[in-house]
Amino acid sequence: MNPRHFISLNDLTSTEFRTLIDRAIELKKYRDPNYQPLKGKVLAMIFEKSSTRTRISFETGMIHLGGSALFLSPRDTQLGRGEPLQDSAKVISSMVDGIMLRTFKHETVTTIAKYSSVPVINGLTDLLHPCQLLADMQTYFEYRGDIEGKTVTWIGDGNNMCHSYINAAKLLNFKLHIACPQGYEPNPAIVEAGQSHIKFFNSPEEAAKASDLIVTDVWASMGHEEEQKQREIAFKDYQVSERVMNAANQDALFMHCLPAHRNEEVAAEVIDGPQSVVFPEAENRLHAQKALLELLMSDK
Ligand code: CP
Ligand code: NVA
Repeated sequence: MNPRHFISLNDLTSTEFRTLIDRAIELKKYRDPNYQPLKGKVLAMIFEKSSTRTRISFETGMIHLGGSALFLSPRDTQLGRGEPLQDSAKVISSMVDGIMLRTFKHETVTTIAKYSSVPVINGLTDLLHPCQLLADMQTYFEYRGDIEGKTVTWIGDGNNMCHSYINAAKLLNFKLHIACPQGYEPNPAIVEAGQSHIKFFNSPEEAAKASDLIVTDVWASMGHEEEQKQREIAFKDYQVSERVMNAANQDALFMHCLPAHRNEEVAAEVIDGPQSVVFPEAENRLHAQKALLELLMSDK
């Protein structure tokens, strides 16, 4: 039987997405140390890029569920020396029960998944960051209830996070306003698939009007560090400032997947202010991924 992968949010049905959110909320409320559905199971975690939250949450999540995790970097495995992805996928998956990957090229994850005999989880690619959306949506549900019919505003780069927000908008049926500088718009194929739920704006304040959640991310994602200076110019009118937050609904939340740059993409008063839920959002990576690991890797 083919293993079940989590490469994109679109690997879930709307119902499954909601069930994962409910389960994550439940797992967060009470941790039974005797509940070990992944006892003896091992997750291999391959990181081509840096990580704090993704690494710690997957590793801790595996331990909480009775299993363990291996941290693998291309620097000290044969992956970094050019061993073919298909050979690596066959070998690694013959010894572990799941693989989590953070890579540059999205095709690296899809190729590993194609040849893996165990579930493969996308821990971020240049295209998508679906695990983060599980945590973000859990956080919204915890603070404000169901997101269906609400309005979310994405401000900044049309990047991997923006793409996963577009996917989430369709699956959970919320409206997504997007304000990106010219030349930094999201991937046209992803936009096309989510077009029934999204609307583009030129100004962050206009986009934020009547919104229930404002979200942004760094201006230069991992792999684009050398564009930092040029992006600072292109994105200068796209900071989530207090003015932007004031344009949104009074009870709007602010989220950011972190790490953040204060006074670049978000004003310090906003990220450290009363509407910001960035730290519960980060903690929820653990709970949401435990729900995901349970879905993909337990025998039940
Ligand atoms: N948000 C997120 O994925 O954080 P890390 O890069 O620290 O894993
Ligand atoms: N868009 C960011 C997210 C980091 C968690 C990046 O890809 O670097």
